[in-house]
Amino acid sequence: MRKMSLIVAMDADGGIGKNGTLPWSIKKDMQYFVKTTKKVENPEKRNAVLMGRKCWESIPESRRPLAGRLNIVLSRQLAEQKSNDLIITNSFESALKMLSEPPFVDSIETIWNIGGAEIYQLAINEKLVDEIHITKIYKSFDADVHLKMPETFKIDENPSENLEFFEENGLKFSFHVLKVAEN
Ligand SMILES: NC(=O)c1ccc[n+]([C@@H]2O[C@H](COP(=O)([O-])OP(=O)(O)OC[C@H]3O[C@@H](n4cnc5c(N)ncnc54)[C@H](OP(=O)(O)O)[C@@H]3O)[C@@H](O)[C@H]2O)c1
Repeated sequence: MRKMSLIVAMDADGGIGKNGTLPWSIKKDMQYFVKTTKKVENPEKRNAVLMGRKCWESIPESRRPLAGRLNIVLSRQLAEQKSNDLIITNSFESALKMLSEPPFVDSIETIWNIGGAEIYQLAINEKLVDEIHITKIYKSFDADVHLKMPETFKIDENPSENLEFFEENGLKFSFHVLKVAEN
C-alpha cells in the first residue's frame, strides 16, 4: 500500500479544530499548506489531498475542491462521486487501493493526508505515514478536536538553535518536518 505524508497545524495542547473549523487564522500557515501540498518534482503529475467529510465541509464551498490537487473525501453518508478533481468514497482501504493502481499510481506523486483527526488516525494506525509536516502554534485554544501523536512523531521540545519562529496577529508558530522511521 502506498505511504502518505501528513500535514497538520496544532496548538500547545495538540488541539487541531474547534466548532468544525480551525481555531486560528494564520495566513502564512495557509500559504505553507497550499505550497507544500501542491509541490511536485514531476510537473506532469499532481498530488492528492485525502480528507474526512468534516474537514471537507470546513472548506468554504467557493474554495473546494482544493485547486490543482485530486481531492479525495472519505464519508459513509455523502453520495459517492468521481470526477477529475474530486472523489468521494466510503472506504479508506478502497481510496488507498485506487491510488495504488493505474491511472493514479502513475499520475499522483504524493498523497497528502490533510485530516481531520479521524483521517490522520486511520493512517497512523495503519503505519502508512512516512513524513509529517507540523505547524506548531504556541498557544492553547481550548480545541474540541485533538490529534494524539505517537511518540515517534513528537517534535523535539528542545529544537536546534536555527529553528525559525514566526509571528502573526500575536500568534507565535514554527514549521517542522519529520521523517517517520520504518516501523
Ligand atoms: N489543524 C489542522 O491542521 C486541521 C486539519 C484538518 C481538519 N482540522 C479540523 O479538524 C476538525 C474535523 O476533524 P474530525 O476528526 O472531527 O473529522 P474528519 O476526520 O475531518 O472527518 C470525519 C468524518 O470522516 C468520515 N470517515 C472517517 N473515517 C472513515 C472511514 N474509515 N471510511 C469512510 N469515511 C470515514 C466520516 O464521515 P461521515 O460522517 O460523512 O460518514 C466521519 O464523520 C475540524 O474542526 C477541522 O477544522 C484541522
